[in-house]
Amino acid sequence: MTAAAPAWLQIETSGASPALLEAVLEAEGAVAVTVSGSGDEMLVETAPGQSPAWNRAAVTGLFPGDRDPAELAAALRDALAPRSVDCRPALIEDRDWVRAWMQDYRPMRFGRRLWVCPHHAEVAADPASPDQAIIRLDPGLAFGTGTHPTTALCLEWLDVHPPVGRRVLDYGCGSGVLALAAASLGAAYVQAVDIDPQSLVATRDNAGANRLEQRVDVGSVEAATPADVVLANILAAPLIDLAPTLASLVHSGGDLCLSGLLAEQADAVQEAYTADFDFVGGAARDGWVRLDAVRH
Ligand SMILES: C[S@@+](CC[C@H](N)C(=O)[O-])C[C@H]1O[C@@H](n2cnc3c(N)ncnc32)[C@H](O)[C@@H]1O
Repeated sequence: MTAAAPAWLQIETSGASPALLEAVLEAEGAVAVTVSGSGDEMLVETAPGQSPAWNRAAVTGLFPGDRDPAELAAALRDALAPRSVDCRPALIEDRDWVRAWMQDYRPMRFGRRLWVCPHHAEVAADPASPDQAIIRLDPGLAFGTGTHPTTALCLEWLDVHPPVGRRVLDYGCGSGVLALAAASLGAAYVQAVDIDPQSLVATRDNAGANRLEQRVDVGSVEAATPADVVLANILAAPLIDLAPTLASLVHSGGDLCLSGLLAEQADAVQEAYTADFDFVGGAARDGWVRLDAVRH
């Protein structure tokens, strides 16, 4: 007798901005979040009398199958109140979502030379960029394949600021995508830490699969040591709580790259860090913001 593939709870939400739906799904523990429908159109101004385009965008979160669908839908509605959001839960088989991810997941380029792609895909040689840095990642249970805007914003920062010969800390490593990108762009040493044991396993596996295990050290947050570059793609509330910790982990004159916050949360996050950092830039995509700072 063969064991049945584990089931997953998939919940499709709509009726609020995609960035807000993503943040709430993640805060509720989604292991993966995808935006579909007219999500891209949310940046287009609506004509008078039309409903905002994001009302038609659907954001789907994937949760372990032992979550109660009615309880989860109620928690999402509470978190999004007073907005009237639509939540449609469905149980799906393990193999279905893995296949769905694989269909959507193609080589992606970040900036000039950095590529993230699945193991099965080829990246065409680009004569204009003979120094391509390619990292291979397959979707797993840990967050981070580059498809999410918060990850993409950090990968683009790394492409513009390759940490050649520098010491890098990826705080909240998920799949390890940022750590691997930093190593493949020339970092001398990279440390990847997370509070989630599944992320540490995924990062170790991914470092090995990319033959970067000699330069990517994976461990718990307690083991984190100061670095020249610290990347932290976590949500706004933990980033605010972590301000003193992250300040103690960036060398004087070193770079801090914060991501995972919504545009309306940027001032509060920046405020938590101004005593120790100068904010020197940033970028935004689909309602998400990256903040770039240099340690005093
Ligand atoms: C949005 S994912 C980012 C993953 C990856 N770095 C990326 O850019 O795609 C956030 C990660 O931070 C981790 N995390 C959440 N709170 C944390 C905390 N207080 N300390 C360390 N890691 C944390 C989560 O377990 C998760 O793996």
